[in-house]
Amino acid sequence: MIDCDWHSLEGIASGDVASVSALYFRLAIEAEAHFINFTPNNIEVPPLRELAEAAGLIYAGRDGKTGQTFLKTTLAPALRDKNLHIDGWLSTNLLGNADGLSLAGTEAGKAKALSKSKCLKSILGYTPGGEDGIGHQVHIHYYPPRGDSKEAWDNIDFTGFLGVKMQMKVNWLGQDSILAAPAIIDLIRLTAFAADAGLHGPLTPASYFFKDPIVPEGDIARHAIPEQFEMLLDFLREAG
Ligand SMILES: NC(=O)c1ccc[n+]([C@@H]2O[C@H](COP(=O)([O-])OP(=O)(O)OC[C@H]3O[C@@H](n4cnc5c(N)ncnc54)[C@H](O)[C@@H]3O)[C@@H](O)[C@H]2O)c1
Repeated sequence: MIDCDWHSLEGIASGDVASVSALYFRLAIEAEAHFINFTPNNIEVPPLRELAEAAGLIYAGRDGKTGQTFLKTTLAPALRDKNLHIDGWLSTNLLGNADGLSLAGTEAGKAKALSKSKCLKSILGYTPGGEDGIGHQVHIHYYPPRGDSKEAWDNIDFTGFLGVKMQMKVNWLGQDSILAAPAIIDLIRLTAFAADAGLHGPLTPASYFFKDPIVPEGDIARHAIPEQFEMLLDFLREAG
């Protein structure tokens, strides 16, 4: 992210803004609109956070959790709680739509793979296979015959009682738009509800919807689906 004067729209327009989503966030603040970042792009520039806070606006993100990572962050806490040690997790995605074309082998794809990679260490307390990340791989391929389907293949290597090695293989075939649309509708409703309840700043209870949840600076994001869902329900009960 480049350093520019985020307070001045003119300065931003003339600068080389690394993330278009951050520019949209800035424009949303100018329009006094809350902002939900469903893309993997980084919008958490400290000056933008400050501007949104000062304007009493809510922001949430990032990267909608609709397919493979939803499944991964559901399975990982279950394996963790069974005391099964995960030795490796290999994830491959086949996407046949415009999103797949813009993600495969590009900088945007690297940002996406990164936001899909953070969850396991957060949930397990370790990175499978070690910190070099080779034991947790996430790949994205553009494969036109898949169309708007979103195919995910996961191979999980794990060790159980007495050091016995086991494996699980999961194949998910979702529909991209059908998975994303209701999440976006719910996020808009949740944001409106939170605004009515007087909240501003990062919307932590929305973590359930995101691969890489934005939380207040210094806080630790939660990634496990059961914990995120409980946090969402608690918020709705308390604020409702
Ligand atoms: N299930 C999902 O669909 C899903 C899940 C998680 C995250 N996302 C993220 O949501 C974003 C959108 O996904 P999609 O499947 O709808 O992609 P898409 O390619 O179908 O649609 C993107 C749209 O944005 C428009 N666009 C591109 N650059 C723009 C710009 N600078 N200003 C204004 N419009 C611009 C394109 O013309 C296109 O209409 C992507 O970043 C994707 O990674 C999608």
